[in-house]
Amino acid sequence: MSGTYILGIESSCDETAAAVVRSGEKLISNVVFSQIAAHQPYGGVVPELASREHLKAIVPVVRKALADAEQSYQSIDSLAVTQGPGLAGALLVGITYAKALAFALDKPLIAVNHLEGHIHAVLLEERQKENREIRFPVLALVVSGGHTHLYLAEERAAGWSYKNIGHTRDDAAGEAFDKVAKLLGLGYPGGPIIDKLSTHGDSTAVKFPAAQLKHRDRKDTAEAGSEPRFDFSYSGIKTSVLRYVEVHGMQPSIDARRNALAAMIANQQKPKPEDYLRLCDAKALNLVASFQRAIVEDLAAKTLAAASACDVATLFVTGGVAANNELRQHFEQAAAMQGLPVYFPSRPLATDNAAMIAAAAYPKFLAGDFAAQGFSAEAGMKL
Ligand code: KG4
Ligand code: ZN
Repeated sequence: MSGTYILGIESSCDETAAAVVRSGEKLISNVVFSQIAAHQPYGGVVPELASREHLKAIVPVVRKALADAEQSYQSIDSLAVTQGPGLAGALLVGITYAKALAFALDKPLIAVNHLEGHIHAVLLEERQKENREIRFPVLALVVSGGHTHLYLAEERAAGWSYKNIGHTRDDAAGEAFDKVAKLLGLGYPGGPIIDKLSTHGDSTAVKFPAAQLKHRDRKDTAEAGSEPRFDFSYSGIKTSVLRYVEVHGMQPSIDARRNALAAMIANQQKPKPEDYLRLCDAKALNLVASFQRAIVEDLAAKTLAAASACDVATLFVTGGVAANNELRQHFEQAAAMQGLPVYFPSRPLATDNAAMIAAAAYPKFLAGDFAAQGFSAEAGMKL
């Protein structure tokens, strides 16, 4: 088969992933090894543990990605790896391995920004569906455990260009899901379980005050000037949930739930959605549903306000939180009212994966934009 075969490697957080993508438009293989089980007992990602787990998984994960793609180390055209942002130690595992492999195979290596990867997850799948209708400029909301960013994205002759027009001032939206789940005794990661439980609660039961962002972010650079910004803030809602828990005396039932789930995990029994449901009373379900509704409405309102202020032609919503059912429905309805097409990645490509890294690398491959030999991890890398 002709085309350019790129082997992508991703290790920025708690997923060790490798994938083969042909010419940025066809997913050939996609292997994701999740470390959730290793981190679950700690209620969040432990950086040192993440590096150790990546070290254990990287060789078999890459081998499987090549085998699934019926490719060999020699037959691929190029390698691509996540340079940042992410956990420094975790990133280094992927980078060191990719560098060694590229050197041994004498193949070019491309360094990719993880956030650019999330945007290209959408492009990859739309190209695969032969959708040639995407119009520019695109406004991309990248919403995950570590990030909540709005980018204006355009394809130019020199490659892709991105302009950040909004970010979270404090917690990322996925981080809020994870922290709220933790404080309600629902374990880690919070997004998928809150997504499932929310359909059983009344989302109008608890009212959360909207985050007020009166001043510009002091971290904004001077060149950002006076252009409008569309920033987010999600640490306040977490505090509101905590206060609600205290005021309504929910702590004993939370402790009981946390202990019951921990006992199941200790017995190697993976809790199922019905177990979580059985362990939640109506008050907890209403709180969870109201929390999710508030986050989804805030994300959509700000993103759509930005879309109309910037007169964009298309909306992308991507990153782990884009897997959320209510978020997808809400964005679809809100975007339709504005006459704006909205695209999401499929759920497997919404959360971290390496296919998005291989896809984002393809335009760089065409442009000969290869990584310098001395490049290293950039934990706080910007897009
Ligand atoms: O993109 P991702 O895999 O990693 C980062 O780059 O951060 O996103 C992980 C985040 C976690 O915070 C997780 O709770 C959230 O995405 N998430 C969800 C859902 N699935 C994953 N949040 C809401 N609803 C979901 N269904
Ligand atoms: Zn991510």
